[in-house]
Amino acid sequence: MLALFPEGFEEAERGDEFVLSAYTDAGGEARMSAVFGAVAAKDVPAGWEERWKHFHRPVRAGRLWIVPPWERAPQHADSITIDPGRAFGTGAHPTTRLCLELVSELEPGSLLDVGCGSGVIAIAAAKLGFAPVVGLDRDPHAIEAARANAAANGFELDFRRVDARLDALPNADAAVANISEELVAAVAPRLSCGLLVTSGYFEPHVPRLPGFRAVGRRRLDGWAADLHAPE
Ligand SMILES: C[S@@+](CC[C@H](N)C(=O)[O-])C[C@H]1O[C@@H](n2cnc3c(N)ncnc32)[C@H](O)[C@@H]1O
Repeated sequence: MLALFPEGFEEAERGDEFVLSAYTDAGGEARMSAVFGAVAAKDVPAGWEERWKHFHRPVRAGRLWIVPPWERAPQHADSITIDPGRAFGTGAHPTTRLCLELVSELEPGSLLDVGCGSGVIAIAAAKLGFAPVVGLDRDPHAIEAARANAAANGFELDFRRVDARLDALPNADAAVANISEELVAAVAPRLSCGLLVTSGYFEPHVPRLPGFRAVGRRRLDGWAADLHAPE
């Protein structure tokens, strides 16, 4: 869908059905018919490209506010500006906020952000005094957005396009992996770090990671994040 409709698309579950909606023009409607067969099209009011911005508001995560470029931070607040572009990571997702709460409580040192998306966690960590900070993602749009966001916040951070399941992972005092249940399980044994923050899963899931013991947990809106120390 991203290749066909970079302008925007939406996934929604309706009962037993999975509905894909592409936001596009007449050319896109023809592309959609060619690929998927029968499609239903309807007009949407002009300005839909910008409407998502109304949902992206300043949000507090740990000791920082995360603010989109078209909004202002609350007065006297420590903040970073994040434009997710086409990457995951407005900062508002409960898992990101939980990770940042845990990171805010750590002693600053070097930090590795696995699955950095828009760079929100890496950039917040740099703002909190962590250095050096490395962010990894396999999505080129994420790396592009993360580099642009770092520059917009006055940081030059090391973002690398890497598959965290396969490629070598740098050592760090602290690592953060806000990825998914399966990816946390696959990546944790490959990490060499003093402390590890994981998230990307719902509360009932409690990761058991070989080589680590759980030392803290945060919960928000049904999601969870965990702090692990080496055994
Ligand atoms: C849930 S998003 C988190 C983004 C950001 N850290 C945040 O908290 O907003 C997970 C990110 O992991 C990346 N990712 C998924 N599989 C990966 C892999 N095998 N190696 C590296 N990154 C991966 C995705 O591209 C996505 O940007």
